Amino acid sequence: MTVNWAEHFSSLASRTEDSALADIFKLTERPDVISFAGGFPAPDMYLIPEVQDVAKEVFSRHATKVLGYGPTPGFSEFRDFIAARQTRLGMPAVPQNILITSGSLQALDLLGRMFLDKGDRVVVEGPTYLGAITTLSTFDVQIETVPTDEKGLQVEWLEEHLRAWSRQDRLPRILYTIPTFQNPSGRVLDLDRRYYLLELACHYDFMIIEDNAYGELRFRGEPVPTLKSLDEEGRVIYLGTLSKVFSPGVRLGWLHAEPEVVRKGILLRQGVDQCSNSIGQLLALEFGKRGLLEKQIQHTSQMLKQKAEMTLSQLEKEFPPDSQWTRPEGGFYTWVTLPEHIDTQKALLHCVEKARVAYVPGPAFYCRNQGQNQLRLCYSEPSLDKIKEGIPRLAQALAEGGRG
Ligand SMILES: Cc1ncc(COP(=O)(O)O)c(C=O)c1O
Repeated sequence: MTVNWAEHFSSLASRTEDSALADIFKLTERPDVISFAGGFPAPDMYLIPEVQDVAKEVFSRHATKVLGYGPTPGFSEFRDFIAARQTRLGMPAVPQNILITSGSLQALDLLGRMFLDKGDRVVVEGPTYLGAITTLSTFDVQIETVPTDEKGLQVEWLEEHLRAWSRQDRLPRILYTIPTFQNPSGRVLDLDRRYYLLELACHYDFMIIEDNAYGELRFRGEPVPTLKSLDEEGRVIYLGTLSKVFSPGVRLGWLHAEPEVVRKGILLRQGVDQCSNSIGQLLALEFGKRGLLEKQIQHTSQMLKQKAEMTLSQLEKEFPPDSQWTRPEGGFYTWVTLPEHIDTQKALLHCVEKARVAYVPGPAFYCRNQGQNQLRLCYSEPSLDKIKEGIPRLAQALAEGGRG
C-alpha cells in the first residue's frame, strides 16, 4: 500500500506550503541570469586568503575542539568575544547575556518557542524579512503588520492599535523589527520613533526583537543608536549574525538578552540542535581576533556603496518616471514601487526567462496579499558591470511582462 503522506503530516507541516518562487529561483542559478534576488554577500566580499590562513592555524592548534561537540550556549571564548563586541557597539554585555545560535534565524525560532502560544498576537513591520514571517508562522500565531514609511514603522499607527488590542485584552507578546537598513526596504527607523517605540513596549508590556543583520554595513550618513542601546529595561532582545559581515556558510548568529532569557534559550535549544558548529566559531573567533572582521566590514561597506550608487543611477535613467525606490544609507537592498498596473509576481517568470534578470516580488515580504506592484532589488551580489547591464534589461522586461 502506498503511503498517503498528506494524511500523516502534522498541522504545522500541512500549513507549510510550497512557494512558486522556489521554482523560479532555481532558474536564477543559470550563469546567464543576473540576479538581484538572493540577499547574499558577493564572492569578492570574502577575505579568502586570510580565512585560509586562519583555518590552517585553527586546525593545527585546536583539531580536537574543531571536530567535537561544543557547549550549547557557544564556546566561552566566542561568547566573550561577542559580548565585548556588543559592548564596544554601545550595548553593554557580559557572556551570560549572549547565546550563540546557528544563524540568527534560529535565535528567532527559539524566541518563538519561549514566548509564543497558539493564537497569540505578534507584530511585524510591513514589508518585512520573509524568513521571519516563515519562522513566526510556524507558531500558529496571529501576525499583525504595522505599515511603514520613509522613517520606518509607523509608531502612531501602532499606538492606536495597541489601545484597541488592550481593550480586547489581546496585546501582542512580541514585536519583531529590523530598524536599521531594513530587509527589504533598506530604510532606517527614525531616532524619535525608536524612543517612542520603546515607550510603547514599556507601557503595553511587550518584548521587542531587534534584528540587526545589516546595521554595521553603513556607507553613508550618521549612525543611529540601536534600540538595544536605548533600552533601559532589558525588554529589547537583540539578534546579531555573521552572515552578512563574515560568511553565511558558518551559520553563526547570536541573541543578546537578559540572563534569564539566555538560560531559557539554552534549555530550549537542547531539544533542537544542542550546539553551534565548532569549526565556524573557532574560525570566526580567530578571524575576529586578528582584526579581520572589522576589515571585512569596511571593505564590504565600500563595495556596497559603489553598488548602491550604480543601482540608483541606473534606476534613475531606466525606470519609468512614475516609479519610486528607497535610497539606502547601508545594507543590501532597495525597495521599488512601480505604477499600480505592473504586477511584479506575474512579471518575474518573463524577466527570468526572457530577460535573464531576477528580483524578489513584493508580496513575498507581506503576510497578507500586498505589494503586488513592488519588488526588492539586492545590489550586493552582482558586480558593478552586471548591475549596469541588468537594470535596463529589468526595466524593459517589467514593462513587457508586468501588466496586471
Ligand atoms: C533581516 C535578516 N535577519 C536574519 C537573516 C538571516 O540571518 P542568518 O543567516 O544568520 O540566519 C537575514 C538574511 O537574509 C536577514 O535579512
